[in-house]
Amino acid sequence: MDIKIENGNIIHSDADTIIVNLFEGVDTPGGATGAVNMALGEMISDLIAGGDFRGKAGEVAVLYPHGAIAARRVLVVGLGKADSFDLEGVRRASAAAVKRARDLNAQHVATIVHGAGIGSLDPKAAAQATVEGALLSTYRFDASKKHEPVNEIRSLTLVEFDNSNIDAITEGAKTAEAVAVGVCLARDLVNMPPNVATPTKLADSAQAIADAHGMGIIIGDRAWAAERKMGAYLAVAQGAGELPKFVILEHNAERTDLPTVVLVGKGITFDTGGISIKPSERMGDMKSDMGGAAAVLGAMETVGRLDLPLRVIGITPCTENMPDANAYRPADIITASNGKTIEIISTDAEGRMVLADALVHAETYKPDAVIDLATLTGACVVALGGGVAAGIFCNDDSLRDKLLAASEATRERIWPLPLYDDYRRAINSEVADMKNSGGRMGGVGTSAVFLREFTNYPWAHLDIAGMAMSEKAGDYSPVGGTGFGVRLLIAYLQGMAS
Ligand code: BES
Ligand code: MN
Ligand code: ZN
Repeated sequence: MDIKIENGNIIHSDADTIIVNLFEGVDTPGGATGAVNMALGEMISDLIAGGDFRGKAGEVAVLYPHGAIAARRVLVVGLGKADSFDLEGVRRASAAAVKRARDLNAQHVATIVHGAGIGSLDPKAAAQATVEGALLSTYRFDASKKHEPVNEIRSLTLVEFDNSNIDAITEGAKTAEAVAVGVCLARDLVNMPPNVATPTKLADSAQAIADAHGMGIIIGDRAWAAERKMGAYLAVAQGAGELPKFVILEHNAERTDLPTVVLVGKGITFDTGGISIKPSERMGDMKSDMGGAAAVLGAMETVGRLDLPLRVIGITPCTENMPDANAYRPADIITASNGKTIEIISTDAEGRMVLADALVHAETYKPDAVIDLATLTGACVVALGGGVAAGIFCNDDSLRDKLLAASEATRERIWPLPLYDDYRRAINSEVADMKNSGGRMGGVGTSAVFLREFTNYPWAHLDIAGMAMSEKAGDYSPVGGTGFGVRLLIAYLQGMAS
């Protein structure tokens, strides 16, 4: 879908379909919606008066102008109540309208920027949200599907009456396009089957990002990791048939004058549990166990497109977790790259193992902040719910506040959980510095304090186990990979860059 910007009155648009909006409870439309209403002989007023359209969030009415204006059809989308309207309302409204336009096989669509006029939102943010809603809601994963013809909107034009808003709207739309590419990349990687989205595939994807944006890249193999004594990462990788890849992307690598943020993503391309094997029922869901790595790669793609004035490093330790003659076992004692020893209780607690060495490696960049994203524990999903919120553990109040602000702005929800020392005691080992599992109770907290053992900088851990993949479609995400974390990370980084 090409995104375009136009200055003028939407009633003169040459698109086949135009989108206007209405707040709930308004019976005389104003602004662009008012202009369309008048051009159509008050058709929209009639809809409202007859009770056929109330302006509820997500509601879409379709009108046929019959030559009264150039467009073949007019969609009116409800914005819900004005007093609770925000950027999430913009994303939802845009998504609802654009999806309906697509289902009607519209080719060229024009829309007003929801919320920029009567909604009195910042025009740049409103344009970004309008375009994000459109691009994210019409995403499809079709790489491996049989080739059936599908409806596809060719262009979406944002039409703005006030010329003084055009620059801001253009900028907001550009940002949204860069963000959507990153989110959709993350979704694609999660949606791919695990025999396709292998560690090698993730490394190839990182290479493409590096090539496109001139980033530095390291693709470490087993020998590379062994030289760096990454025993925890290698323990998980030792049972894998697919070649492990420890991938690092560097944006502005040489610019040590800039603030440095390291993003770390768990890249388990398939988690069988290893020797502590998982039940076979629903094991296929564990193809999404690289959701953290997917989010980091997606974010790096967007960072490159926006050329953010920050030094941003993306680290994705990638491997499968397989049961195998060479696999690591319960009772093994493993030494991580910082010299700490780990008693293996469960080979299914593999995420924290690969993250341990990645977090130690992050330190070499002298980071101002490190954020890891990982589909780490079922316990986090039990605590917060699937598709509800990610858990955030953080050792730095200012970093936590910034991430919470980014969460609020993007509506990618994260909820703070505690790094109590009680959890640390639960992973005390008789034979090593720590165990890799504290058992069933407090499983999300014990995983987080385990990771803390490998950090010595401002750090946030996001447990995205319930968020990377969804069985239900969201307002602007279809079933499957969600791309969760990309928008959050970009909003955080943009805050840091401004
Ligand atoms: N990848 C899983 C966690 C997971 C569960 C992600 C459900 C998405 C949905 C992780 O590697 C795992 O197996 N965790 C164990 C840890 C336990 C062995 C300490 C868990 O949560 O049961
Ligand atoms: Mn596991
Ligand atoms: Zn896992």
